[in-house]
Amino acid sequence: MTSSTTRTQVGIVGGGPAGLMLSHLLALDGIDSVVIESRTRAEIEQTVRAGILERGSVRLLVDSGVSDRVLREGHEHEGIDLRFAGSSHRIDFQDLVGRSVWLYPQTDVFTDLADARSRDGADIRFSWTATKVDGVETDRPTIEATAPDGSAHRIECDVVVGSDGSRSVCRQQIPEGRRTDYFREYPFAWFGILAEAPPSAPELIYAHSDRGFALISQRTATMQRMYFQCDPTEDPGQWSDDQIWSELQSRVTGPDGLELVEGRITDRSVLRFRSFVTEPLRHGRLLLAGDAAHTVPPTGAKGLNLALADVRVLAESLQRFLLKDDHEALDAYSEQALDRVWGAQHYSYWMTTMLHTLPGSTPFDHRRQIAELTTLVGSSAGSTLLADGYTGWA
Ligand code: DHB
Repeated sequence: MTSSTTRTQVGIVGGGPAGLMLSHLLALDGIDSVVIESRTRAEIEQTVRAGILERGSVRLLVDSGVSDRVLREGHEHEGIDLRFAGSSHRIDFQDLVGRSVWLYPQTDVFTDLADARSRDGADIRFSWTATKVDGVETDRPTIEATAPDGSAHRIECDVVVGSDGSRSVCRQQIPEGRRTDYFREYPFAWFGILAEAPPSAPELIYAHSDRGFALISQRTATMQRMYFQCDPTEDPGQWSDDQIWSELQSRVTGPDGLELVEGRITDRSVLRFRSFVTEPLRHGRLLLAGDAAHTVPPTGAKGLNLALADVRVLAESLQRFLLKDDHEALDAYSEQALDRVWGAQHYSYWMTTMLHTLPGSTPFDHRRQIAELTTLVGSSAGSTLLADGYTGWA
């Protein structure tokens, strides 16, 4: 029994940053949408995610009128430290490419978007589950959804967008013979922590060491985010705080005496590493965006930035399709977005393989990585390539 039918122009499955930003951008063009999200707002806000925004992501948030909180509460970072063989080498983004990034957690981006959508009276349905997407090969696709009280509802749309994350239900609507999935698994993971401590360094440190990779990131004056490379089967519950700190310290130690400021560890988890892309991003009236279409390994923090870049292109294509009847626009989205997706895939893969230790790697492999890093920091061409990608390709 369907209790209600809603008619909208764009039905969006998934209310993370990609889905909410798309709904916001469409509203600016007078296009209405309904967003279905299975989690509660609080659940999304409590999940610890990455913390670096490219300049383009910051501009999108501010210029589209979501919020300027990122400029007030975020921190501009004009460079990073690459650390190897026990020494740090600064990559100066401003000098090299004239751009910065902003330290501003993804959960704050989500909060800003959810507040903006609620402020503008949008139809965002948290705790609703999309059970079925139908008719994507017709001009009237539908989403079947269950409300928190268990009642069944139908949303009739002109277009359905799947921004429902890496385990996307929408993606399954594209028949296997009509899509190509590209996939790569890595034989390591990140052990991520949040710790009550002041920052250990002014900027982020990406550290290559003979014990594996470590990333020293930040959150606030009193809370820090750090990661170290571990086995994908590692159980974070088995580690004492002391063991974690000792592992992190061992990966940044060097003749310059760098030492991390330690503190109570308040959150810990193991993050899997994957590269995934599905092509094309369109099947009939169904379009995919964000993690539903692609996943990158976390080194370089491209995931959220890529999702926002997708929906910026997608909003424009939907505007052309829905308001100007331009039927080429939906294919154009797939082609245009995939260019950036593959650029970011390559970038994340490159940063990952340059800095991590592969199981079974030999002293030759380790020494060659140091030579690669030495070449990179000693060459303005090499450093510029890194800075250009990190800050998000002009
Ligand atoms: C963070 C995560 C990343 O993957 C990265 O490359 C930089 C920062 C973070 O969570 O702060």
